[in-house]
Amino acid sequence: MTEYVAIKDSAKHVGETVKMHVWLTDKRSSGKIMFLQLRDGSAFFQGVIRKEDVSEETFQTAKGLHQEASFYVTGTINEDKRSKFGYELQISDLEVVSNREGFPVTNKEHGIDFLLDHRHLWLRSRRPFAIMQIRNTLFKATVDFFEKEGFIKFDAPLLMHTAPEGTTELFHTEYFETDAYLSQSGQLYGEVGAEAFGKIFTFGPTFRAEASKTRRHLTEFWMMEPEMAWMHQDESLDLQERFLAYITGQVLEKNQYELEILGRDPEKLRPTTEGNFVRLDYGEAIKMLQEAGREIQWGDDFGAPDEAYLANQFDRPFFIVNYPTAIKPFYMKKNPENPKTYLCADVLAPEGYGEIMGGSERESDYEVLKAQLEEAGLSLETYNWYLDLRRYGSVPHSGFGMGFERVIAWICKLDHVREAIPFPRMMTRIEP
Ligand code: 4AD
Ligand code: MG
Repeated sequence: MTEYVAIKDSAKHVGETVKMHVWLTDKRSSGKIMFLQLRDGSAFFQGVIRKEDVSEETFQTAKGLHQEASFYVTGTINEDKRSKFGYELQISDLEVVSNREGFPVTNKEHGIDFLLDHRHLWLRSRRPFAIMQIRNTLFKATVDFFEKEGFIKFDAPLLMHTAPEGTTELFHTEYFETDAYLSQSGQLYGEVGAEAFGKIFTFGPTFRAEASKTRRHLTEFWMMEPEMAWMHQDESLDLQERFLAYITGQVLEKNQYELEILGRDPEKLRPTTEGNFVRLDYGEAIKMLQEAGREIQWGDDFGAPDEAYLANQFDRPFFIVNYPTAIKPFYMKKNPENPKTYLCADVLAPEGYGEIMGGSERESDYEVLKAQLEEAGLSLETYNWYLDLRRYGSVPHSGFGMGFERVIAWICKLDHVREAIPFPRMMTRIEP
């Protein structure tokens, strides 16, 4: 069996003659020498064909290659100090698998709508490549982090009857004789997991029928939600800080190449790896905004421009703690020092990114939670199973949710979360 070398492993094969399987992204020739830009899904680099080194037939075949032609290639890996990647392939032979003219996503500038319509092909380009590699690092880093912290991965259902985050943004579907909703959050099931296994995290798609066309909203996005039995809110904040420091550090360690493709300055991410996130009281945040001349009162929720303003004041993520009860969901535990607020926190990312995570200590007292459900106008019957968690073996517990695409958008410095997921779902887009 032939061993194919991946482009990203070039450094290990300098001076060797190797076989690779590649696609062509671009091509340039100057008479007797041809430069083929190659990719194989692991990285991008350049192949060089000299007329004098190959048969006339091979040279002519290379000349006739179109963008996205796929082929096997044989050649010698050389160091190439002039390229960012550092290596190139001196090609001696190639065998074409597919070669067709007219690949729509050319190397010219395209508008975003065109690119999104061709997302199934656009994903082969450098920029989506870099973003998806970073997404993969963040996924792996998340799983590794929670494993080290003694958590297990616990899977929440996606079809559900109970609404964890209020009833206005639910996708509804018929479900045989009854109704179902697509999950907005796995949290209520995560709380089940915490009482069964101590520390768990869920990680999967969530759905919000939000009619918001902002650069921060998808209708289908991935959320990661840890839930910790016996843990109070302060310890949860410590955990959130360690978590963000770790996953950001992993990207800095593993994705230098990708950050460079994106033109993302790694130094902007460095402070996050040090932890020490500011814990800003909600009331303080309101004051900061008022002093900056913004129209906002105690009790208001922050708009995106408010969050962006606050998020520009810091060089790393920070917490806003203890929001008013009126603007947060029913399951949170009231702050004993000020019952108009909850023991909760949102994490805002710097550089204007705003909310990337949110969480709280959960109300663990049966009677209090029941009253909060009633106050929120929710049906006790639907939430009966959830109340069982407070009837039997209830303990103090806390948790939070990370919006995966929001974190990716910040780490990669994207203008819009739509680039952070392979196939974005938005109000006006469900294809491809
Ligand atoms: O703040 P949210 O609504 O919190 C929850 O769902 C809780 N149950 C989490 C928990 O405590 N277990 O959503 C959590 C995060 C937000 O901070 C945000 O980053 C992201 O999910 N998010 C979205 N991301 C993309 N598109 C949307 N429409 C989003 N809505 C929320
Ligand atoms: Mg939130």
